[in-house]
Amino acid sequence: KKKITIPQLQSEKKGGRKFRMVTAYDYLFATMIEETDIELILVGDSLGMVVLGYDSTVPVTLNDMIHHCRPVVRGAPSTLIIGDMPFGTYNVSIADAIGNGNRLMKEAMVDAIKLEGGQEVAETISALVKAGIPVMGHIGLTPQRASQLGGFKVQGKTEEAKESLLQDALALEEAGAFAIVIECVPYDIAQKITENLQIPTIGIGAGPYCDGQVLVIQDLVGLYDRFVPKFVKQYGQVRPLITNALNDFARDVQEGAFPGPEHSFGMESKK
Ligand code: KIV
Ligand code: NA
Repeated sequence: KKKITIPQLQSEKKGGRKFRMVTAYDYLFATMIEETDIELILVGDSLGMVVLGYDSTVPVTLNDMIHHCRPVVRGAPSTLIIGDMPFGTYNVSIADAIGNGNRLMKEAMVDAIKLEGGQEVAETISALVKAGIPVMGHIGLTPQRASQLGGFKVQGKTEEAKESLLQDALALEEAGAFAIVIECVPYDIAQKITENLQIPTIGIGAGPYCDGQVLVIQDLVGLYDRFVPKFVKQYGQVRPLITNALNDFARDVQEGAFPGPEHSFGMESKK
């Protein structure tokens, strides 16, 4: 496996290549993704919900992100790794955003960062890119603004909202973003954005016409079952495999069936 490059993402969009991205938050999952054809890993601030047990991404800190990006980088050296900038790390000032972006690049050694927002963050993205920090955008449903948006809802349903999403996407491309995540919007506006941009779009709940797709890995393999959004396809049912194994262990210990002689030191196996 050879790590895909940021220039390749743009040049290969033209050839119709589809890009595959999943999230990861630790070394174990990173090593599994590294063995597959998936080109991109997002260390998402979904960390807050699927790993840290918060009910929103807002409490996630930059130190949380750095702590979780580092083992992913160690586990997947041939996969392009993007680290999310959490809430509050790019809304204070451009200088502060660059300082925080520098920390993710230097301390976590990710290949790029991602941040949420449209036209209102274009100036920040432009400054980050000029500072040498590759930035992936994220428009549509932006979970860091769930409170302001009135919940985790499909965005861009009216013609006006669709036009505004297209303007957001164009502003991010103009600002120098190398790709854009589009989350939870009707398929037709995601398609229109994809056709109007030179940079790749990576969809989640944004229909089949994006240049790539991203899913949260716990959703994809069926590990996280507190809530399964409509846009998730579960390619596995891993959670019951694990809970069944745990129950088998609990029963064996209770019944004295584990450990057997084969798992014990200096004990003759009966055979
Ligand atoms: O944090 C995350 O997992 C994300 C993806 C859903 C795009 O931002
Ligand atoms: Na995120």
